[in-house]
Amino acid sequence: MKKLHLLFLGISSLFIATSCTKTTSASTTLSTADCVAISYKTDIAPIMSANCISCHNANQASAGINLSTYANVAKYASSSLNAMNNGSMPPAGKLPTGTIQKLNCWISQGKLNN
Ligand code: HEC
Repeated sequence: MKKLHLLFLGISSLFIATSCTKTTSASTTLSTADCVAISYKTDIAPIMSANCISCHNANQASAGINLSTYANVAKYASSSLNAMNNGSMPPAGKLPTGTIQKLNCWISQGKLNN
């Protein structure tokens, strides 16, 4: 239990470190400095379709979250990024860093509907 707690703390602080700074982050995994232009249509929506909407759709909105529309993906982007970073979503296993990085970049670019 204690180990788990420490692990959670570690992951949380990693998330805070990566989300609060654009310049000097201790993390080499997620950095907005490494962002390329991200499109909702060609990058973000397909990530949601492939990994999330089987459980987060209009008929089955786990945790009340339906990730099948742009408005909702934008609304839940930060909590989704958090859940992806800490490995809780998708439940089947943590997505590759590059995939999580796309969501990170899309948020930092203003969550455009592009
Ligand atoms: C196999 C089903 C399933 C898949 C796939 C899935 N989720 Fe979830 N999700 C759930 C369930 C069930 C809950 C509510 C219980 C919980 O939090 O574990 C949840 C809760 C959440 C929450 C709110 C709680 C939290 O952890 O912050 C967010 C945000 C979320 N999911 C985002 C996502 C994203 C983003 C993806 C895709 C990368 C995804 N989920 C994929 C089933 C799923």
